[in-house]
Amino acid sequence: MSHLIAPSVLSADFGNLQRDCEMLNNSSCDWYHVDIMDGVFVPNMSFGFSVMKSLQQHAKKPLDVHLMIVEPDKYLEEFKNHGATNLSVHIEACPHLHRTIQKIKALGCKAGVAINPHTSVSLLEDIICDVDIVLIMSVNPGYGGQKFIENTYMKTHKLKEMIVRKNSDALIEIDGGVNLENASKLIDIGADVLVAGNFVFSSSDPVATIASLKKL
Ligand code: DX5
Ligand code: ZN
Repeated sequence: MSHLIAPSVLSADFGNLQRDCEMLNNSSCDWYHVDIMDGVFVPNMSFGFSVMKSLQQHAKKPLDVHLMIVEPDKYLEEFKNHGATNLSVHIEACPHLHRTIQKIKALGCKAGVAINPHTSVSLLEDIICDVDIVLIMSVNPGYGGQKFIENTYMKTHKLKEMIVRKNSDALIEIDGGVNLENASKLIDIGADVLVAGNFVFSSSDPVATIASLKKL
């Protein structure tokens, strides 16, 4: 499988969301990455179901929802009802991760587990065969436009080795500070999905920027 590109809607212009959705629909991106922040799990708030509703209406590609919230179980069904294709929860926010993952799958969504920069991939040994996606945070979650953390390469490499060894089908998604400089190296060491927010939306030609990430 060639790698997937998932622009992060967090960096879109919310005053012109329909226009930005049309841009993404016409681009070579694969998913919309949708960042949900609650101001508790992360020190920032993003948006909720009203924006999800607009995305559901205008997006013509799968919605890859990244829940940076405490107690995600409470809201899984509502996100599914608002068009989520993939639902990723943070390992740091889920005391019963196995149960949460089963719940996501029972809703008919792809189930993802996200890990913060300080969280070791070795904690995924006993869940890697149950998840569809592992989302490695390559910045501390909370904001777009931050600097890529170099240790992500080592984590991606270790995770890829675990996925092969365990015969898991999980995709590796890298989220935060992705740009043309680090993207090829990430793909080379096993990344399947690249999230890019600021790099796409602050460029003068977002469609061309998405195409350049896609053709790596
Ligand atoms: C950070 C979010 C990321 C972010 C990526 O908390 O999870 O998805 O929007 O944006 P960039 O690519 O600007 O780092
Ligand atoms: Zn994200």
